[in-house]
Amino acid sequence: MRRILHMKGDVMCTVLLLVLFCLLLYARHEFPSSPSGPQLPPCKPQSRLKSPQSKSKSKGKSKSRRRNAVPTKAAGNPLPTMPPFDFAGYMREKDNRNFKLLIDQPEKCHIGGSGSNAAPYMLIAVKSIAADFDKRQVVRRTWGKEGHFENGVSIRTVFLLGVPKNHTALPLWDRLLAYESHTFKDILLWDFEDTFFNLTLKETHFLNWVNSSCPHVKFIFKGDADVYVNVENILEMLRGQEPDGDLFVGDIIINAKPIRRRTSKYYVPEFLYGGGLYPNYAGGGGFVMSGHTARRLSSACQQVELFPIDDVFLGMCLQLIGIKPSRHQGFRTFGIPRPSAAPHLQTFDPCFYRELMVVHSLRVPQIWLMWNLLHDPKLSCHNRTSQSSWPFKWRGNDSL
Ligand SMILES: *[C@@H]1O[C@H](CO)[C@@H](O)[C@H](O)[C@H]1NC(C)=O
Ligand SMILES: *[C@@H]1O[C@H](CO)[C@@H](O)[C@H](O)[C@H]1NC(C)=O
Ligand SMILES: *[C@@H]1O[C@H](CO)[C@@H](O)[C@H](O)[C@H]1NC(C)=O
Ligand SMILES: *[C@@H]1O[C@H](CO)[C@@H](O)[C@H](O)[C@H]1NC(C)=O
Repeated sequence: MRRILHMKGDVMCTVLLLVLFCLLLYARHEFPSSPSGPQLPPCKPQSRLKSPQSKSKSKGKSKSRRRNAVPTKAAGNPLPTMPPFDFAGYMREKDNRNFKLLIDQPEKCHIGGSGSNAAPYMLIAVKSIAADFDKRQVVRRTWGKEGHFENGVSIRTVFLLGVPKNHTALPLWDRLLAYESHTFKDILLWDFEDTFFNLTLKETHFLNWVNSSCPHVKFIFKGDADVYVNVENILEMLRGQEPDGDLFVGDIIINAKPIRRRTSKYYVPEFLYGGGLYPNYAGGGGFVMSGHTARRLSSACQQVELFPIDDVFLGMCLQLIGIKPSRHQGFRTFGIPRPSAAPHLQTFDPCFYRELMVVHSLRVPQIWLMWNLLHDPKLSCHNRTSQSSWPFKWRGNDSL
């Protein structure tokens, strides 16, 4: 206790938040399939300090962590509402598309204090939900770190949130987010329900925020919280790119057909989208765009009718203003082996990941492991074969 009292206020705040989150999560009797609860690493000291009850609970949970160790695609997103989605209701409601900003970070884009006009070189924007404190924490401490990189490149990070749909599942969520925002100054919260089909609202509100509160940012990475991003590689790709030109790079999905299978997470009925193919869009956890493109998109998207799948919706906005998204090898990360601490799974080669930009569907410990392995000063890889094409080989044992 004495030691704790001697810690800095900052650290105390973080610890307090963690304790509160842990308690809240423990208070729930059932845990969602998302790994948020079990993988809060800082909960460990807490369970040591606290009652035996919370201790035994955390043990039970570490078992369940082992059980579902296989990463799932949807890990980072709020799940779609399980009863069949009311598409007709969505059609009726979709003109209601302006929601209040409840928590803002007005200083985020003024490097060197308010009044300064120096904007960040790159803004990292991460989609998150209120309950996923652990995922935000690992991003903050690994690839989403704010600060200055070589050549004076400055990076700022924000997390994009809506209001949790189920308040009983996370009581005091508003107080918690207020504390979190106070501590880390990286929360943007809007007054719409944070559901899978409302991710499109998150997209439009974020673009409007960039247009009004971060208009001079040079580049933006926007992605999920369950990804690993090789920020150094992205910066290298951006070198020589024009922030005032159009740029939109990612894992571009071309000529995708709307899914008409009702059981799919991405099911779209014909009355909602009658067209044959979707416009090209970026999928797979993250993409990079220039500040110029983001500002153009913010007004383009206002003219596009809301569509419940956010990736596709953004593709529609791009199409409207005639921007061709470009595909990049480094984002094509589907079906590659993920890092594992298990000694018998020797598939993980940090040098292989070093060539990629975005690896998705990772869990908190995997992100942590990946970042530390890649930033190990002892890591030595052979030289890159090419500086521009980020080659990567499919290993023999494809996992998907
Ligand atoms: C909200 O969360 C609580 C606690 O996890 C759960 O018991 C309840 O069924 C949830 N309500 C809805 C509408 O999902
Ligand atoms: C989106 O958020 C609004 C405002 O909270 C809510 O009325 C609506 O039901 C949500 N839509 C979906 C599809 O979840
Ligand atoms: C973006 O910002 C400009 C300049 O402040 C403003 O004129 C424009 O209306 C804004 N666009 C949107 C979509 O808010
Ligand atoms: C690797 O690159 C460095 C500098 O780019 C060069 O000096 C070195 O010879 C290269 N090593 C190999 C094995 O190609």
